[in-house]
Amino acid sequence: VGPREGKATARDKAPASLNAVFSPGADDGDELAALAPRNAVDAARAIDAVFEGPLPVEHTLAVIKPGTADEHRAEIMREIRAHGFTIAAQRRARLSKEQVESFYEEHRGKFFFDRLTSYIASGPVIAMVLAKPGAIKSWRSLMGPTNTFKARTDAPSSLRARFGIDGTRNATHGS
Ligand code: RTP
Ligand code: MG
Repeated sequence: VGPREGKATARDKAPASLNAVFSPGADDGDELAALAPRNAVDAARAIDAVFEGPLPVEHTLAVIKPGTADEHRAEIMREIRAHGFTIAAQRRARLSKEQVESFYEEHRGKFFFDRLTSYIASGPVIAMVLAKPGAIKSWRSLMGPTNTFKARTDAPSSLRARFGIDGTRNATHGS
């Protein structure tokens, strides 16, 4: 974008910038071709001002669970992109048992809690932030039913049907 002081300054300091090349009006005027926010706070304010109401894009957390993360990461990410998601952030991480227990706090006390948390702490996961309109519902639908065997009968093309191993090792998480 270049300097925001005016066309003359832009031409002087950054001759290849948008404001140097495309600013309309007189050469010594202060009309500019483009404006860029200076920081995240300014950017959020500008987006709110231009797009009234919530943006249609939605974010969801997707996790490829241990084992699957090493074996099928590339194929699962290809599938994610093919379904129109943008992968807004991505991180490979190894979570401690304590971190996993707090992540799955809602299931504490259930019969599968220890099996689940030991499994998720057993190796690296790939955590991603997926973005698109309706992302939350769409990611759930791409994953398929929680139980791998139910996924294989009810949604055979889903990720859990294709990459899940059993009731607990079901390839992916969504929230
Ligand atoms: P997630 O939270 O991982 O995305 O899965 P979900 O919402 O579809 O299912 P949820 O009920 O939240 O269960 C969390 C995870 O616990 C494991 N699980 N094992 N009978 C079992 O052995 C059993 N039941 C659930 C699965 O890994 C499930 O994804
Ligand atoms: Mg859940």
